[in-house]
Amino acid sequence: MQGKIGFVGMGSMAQAILKGWKSTALFAEDQFAAYAPNQEKLRKNAKEIGFEPYSDLPSLMRDCNTLIVACKPDQVERALGGVKEQLAGKTLISIAALWTFERYAELLGDGVRVQFVMPNTPAMAKAGMFLFEDNNSLLPEELDAVKQWFSSIGEVEVIPTKLMGIASCIAGSAPAFVDMMMEGLSDAAVSCGMPRDMSYRLIAQMVVGSGRLLQESGEHPGALKDAVCSPGGSTILGVEALDKAGFRAACQEAVHATMKRT
Ligand SMILES: NC(=O)c1ccc[n+]([C@@H]2O[C@H](COP(=O)([O-])OP(=O)(O)OC[C@H]3O[C@@H](n4cnc5c(N)ncnc54)[C@H](OP(=O)(O)O)[C@@H]3O)[C@@H](O)[C@H]2O)c1
Repeated sequence: MQGKIGFVGMGSMAQAILKGWKSTALFAEDQFAAYAPNQEKLRKNAKEIGFEPYSDLPSLMRDCNTLIVACKPDQVERALGGVKEQLAGKTLISIAALWTFERYAELLGDGVRVQFVMPNTPAMAKAGMFLFEDNNSLLPEELDAVKQWFSSIGEVEVIPTKLMGIASCIAGSAPAFVDMMMEGLSDAAVSCGMPRDMSYRLIAQMVVGSGRLLQESGEHPGALKDAVCSPGGSTILGVEALDKAGFRAACQEAVHATMKRT
């Protein structure tokens, strides 16, 4: 896809995605632009990351064929409401939570080609999970190109609209749950005498490795757990302790609690 790509909002998620894209060979050096209300912050980020800062949204819309909507969900309507006409014929990729294709159709009508993508924070480490809502109005070649952009910094999965909520919870919110687990493991390791930084190295690689083993083996997670538990060994005692503490139930409750706001 040719032409400038303009970010509407340049906060933490937009920066994570853009930094990732800038490290690939997919884009031209001067292909990115952005608008955000805090101009001082925008110009500072523009220098650091390498994009063209814009002082108003209509100018960004005029110059960019593709817009990435990366402001907060409650800012979308205010940001785009006043530039509806200028959006006609453009391609709009939105990463704002809950802004589904249908919601955009209500706001903008059908003259804009829209794709809702939910990213997650591991995008910062080029290991993102990008959920593409299956309902979209991109041209087939556009969709292929946009999938290629996101695949360059993680995995892309196409999700039915009705599952976008739970998918966003698992891919988008659950990294916080895993962070809490890693923090707890690290505290225990430190209390057993391990230096903090060493514990982080071991835990991070263990989580990466466990995820990759699940991906590559295609095994049931329970079978992978069983493979670590030798009869009469130490790991099964830890598994019992987790079950007594309600670990699996706590994971399920965390997902259901998150879904209340999704
Ligand atoms: N962070 C995550 O883990 C995550 C995960 C999945 C999806 N998302 C989605 O990503 C989006 C951005 O999240 P974030 O965490 O990056 O938020 P953020 O750091 O608060 O960034 C929001 C950006 O939007 C800008 N903005 C505010 N009002 C605007 C307006 N009227 N027009 C244009 N830009 C405007 C802000 O600019 P100023 O700073 O100048 O005010 C800022 O650059 C959200 O919709 C969220 O649902 C985030």
